[in-house]
Amino acid sequence: MSIGTSPPRRDGPDKLTGRALYADDLRPDGMLYGATVRSERAHARILSVRPDPEFDWNGITVLTAADLPGPNVVTLMTDDQPILADGLVRHVTEPIALIAAPTRERALAAAKAVLVEYEDLPALLDPLTAEGHAIRIFGDDNVYKRIRIQRGERSTLTGHLVRARYATGLQEQLYIEPQSMIASPRPDGGIALVGSMQCPYYVDRAVKRMVGHDRVNVLQAVTGGGFGGKEEYPSILACHATLLAMRTGRPVKITYRRDEDLRCTTKRHPAVIDLATLVSDEGKLLELHAKLWMDGGAYHTLSTVVLSRAILHVGGPYRCPFVDLSGTVVATHTPPNGAFRGFGAPQAQWAMERHMDRVARTLHLDPIELRRRNLYRDGDITGTGQVLVAPGGFAVLESAERAAEAPVTRTTVRPGVTGARMAAGRGLALAWHGCGFTGNGEAKIKGKVGLEVRGSDVAILSSSTDIGQGTETIFPMIVGETLGIPAARAFNTPHDTGLVPDSGPTVASRTAMVVGGTCQKAAEQLLTLLRSRLGDGSFDALVSRWDPNWGPLAVEETYEVDPNIQWDPDTYQGDAYPTFGWSCVIVDLRVDLDTGEVLYDRVVTSTDVGRALSPALAAGQIEGGTLQALGWATAEEVVLDARGCMRNDRLTNYIIPTALDAPEMITILEEIPYAGGPFGAKGIGEIPMDAPAAAVAQAIERATGAILDTLPMTPERVFSALEPR
Ligand code: MOS
Repeated sequence: MSIGTSPPRRDGPDKLTGRALYADDLRPDGMLYGATVRSERAHARILSVRPDPEFDWNGITVLTAADLPGPNVVTLMTDDQPILADGLVRHVTEPIALIAAPTRERALAAAKAVLVEYEDLPALLDPLTAEGHAIRIFGDDNVYKRIRIQRGERSTLTGHLVRARYATGLQEQLYIEPQSMIASPRPDGGIALVGSMQCPYYVDRAVKRMVGHDRVNVLQAVTGGGFGGKEEYPSILACHATLLAMRTGRPVKITYRRDEDLRCTTKRHPAVIDLATLVSDEGKLLELHAKLWMDGGAYHTLSTVVLSRAILHVGGPYRCPFVDLSGTVVATHTPPNGAFRGFGAPQAQWAMERHMDRVARTLHLDPIELRRRNLYRDGDITGTGQVLVAPGGFAVLESAERAAEAPVTRTTVRPGVTGARMAAGRGLALAWHGCGFTGNGEAKIKGKVGLEVRGSDVAILSSSTDIGQGTETIFPMIVGETLGIPAARAFNTPHDTGLVPDSGPTVASRTAMVVGGTCQKAAEQLLTLLRSRLGDGSFDALVSRWDPNWGPLAVEETYEVDPNIQWDPDTYQGDAYPTFGWSCVIVDLRVDLDTGEVLYDRVVTSTDVGRALSPALAAGQIEGGTLQALGWATAEEVVLDARGCMRNDRLTNYIIPTALDAPEMITILEEIPYAGGPFGAKGIGEIPMDAPAAAVAQAIERATGAILDTLPMTPERVFSALEPR
């Protein structure tokens, strides 16, 4: 009925007309404004925190770590990040004290009037020297986690050894609206939170632990994009707003200004990846040795799992009989890095795709032919020993190449560049991406979805938020299709932890595939409930005959993990993911030889989505992600000062692509169904981030001969890499 069609987005009209209420649009009665006093040092003892006696403190509340009611920790995976620094700061911008004031201006002024006295300690900012450094941040050696995967037999053949180093930089998620959270005291002495977030239950757990009771509920406000940046970060903001609301007895809102948001919040982990491959004369990979380092920053956040996904993707979509893959994520005295669309896989695959180009160059092979010779085929075994079923590498490669035969119809022209010396080139890259949580992650999460018949409509209760990707539209389509009613008669209830079950976090390309699948199962369970009393019939006919004395027409379903998935988290062997998506990207671009600037003409993507539940939303995810990847490729560069603080904290100097920079896109949706997903759907949120940067680098190389192995490929880097002429 509706699956495979593209009905309008449910959230569209409100967002387009400005009716949608983002967290910062909300102003509960009596609300105060919060602000944060932050460290100006990378590593220092805090000697004193005191209010400037010159400032007018009338009506202003100041809190420090001494005011915490419970454990001073932001609950996530590892208990290391304090809610407020207590005696020691480990990174610049670390929160030290909190302010509540009647106006935003007063709050910001008061934050500046809190005087912090420091005793500087030696700071460690360089991730490549962090491991085992005498300056100690974490554990014995500053290593948050090491992972090693070894599999297969060393080659007995002689081949060509190709080795090189690849690197990537920080990237900011740059969601539409900055971080924002409101905490309000509840009549029962509890706290109600509303804010911009991906994962209401992360916030719920963090705040409950801090306050030491369960009278807490968390509601997601309209959220303009998360990209991972609103996965774990909102928890600390929620703890801060809660502390201020408890102290003042009033609602308190904290909304970061964009520059504060840029300086303080998590970024994509920078990575350095050393790859060495042994390759046969015919271009077959015989051995792959990878060493990958990531900079986690001053606290764990999600770095250990980002490293995990990076290592699991570092081989790219290619078979290799022997792999030795090791990864290390280290601590530095810099703001913690965290979740970002792709979660380590883009960094790893940037390296592998660039390395494939290097192998092709070394062996004088065509880089695409080299990929074809090594792409995973049905029944191939991955580096974790997973047997691949119907891998889609060839399908996406062929459809992308076919589509790219069409002439480029539009070229980007910018004022000032007409007549410039330009070199045109085309590049291609491939990627795979594990859908959903790694290994048996879902078995621990046990994500739940509730359905309730309300009049003639069906309410869907989940904690899976819509962050622009379409949850509010897709879930009703899945439920409607399964029940045999129009999607318009199903709707998501507000994502409030006081009302909805925990469906697991809105992350890891899992929402449509995993929670959407649970929606489908819940709808089937509802039909089974009706039929158990009433026999066969249409959903509407059965509902009309349901006797309320039989109980409420409501069900709850828990995600059932495929029992065939076997995963050993200690050896990193087994089925790393329930299924993989596949992607091929072909970029046409021109390089301005006088400036090094890259202008995009067209991007063709072919992506295996399993099943396009809504082709428009699927294409939207892929095109948005592709543009974000192009930004990572050539525009977005985070510049840190000597304290590790982001210097270019404005949108005038942290440059992301705009609609005007967006090239023509041809977006092909391949459908290789995954039996475990609703109607065959796979996760598609993150895979668009994986391949574009490498396709850009290959295109630059073909256009100019310049070889770039470090991201971002800013005009300065491209210009420096051009042959002297
Ligand atoms: Mo996402 S990077 O899994 O929030």
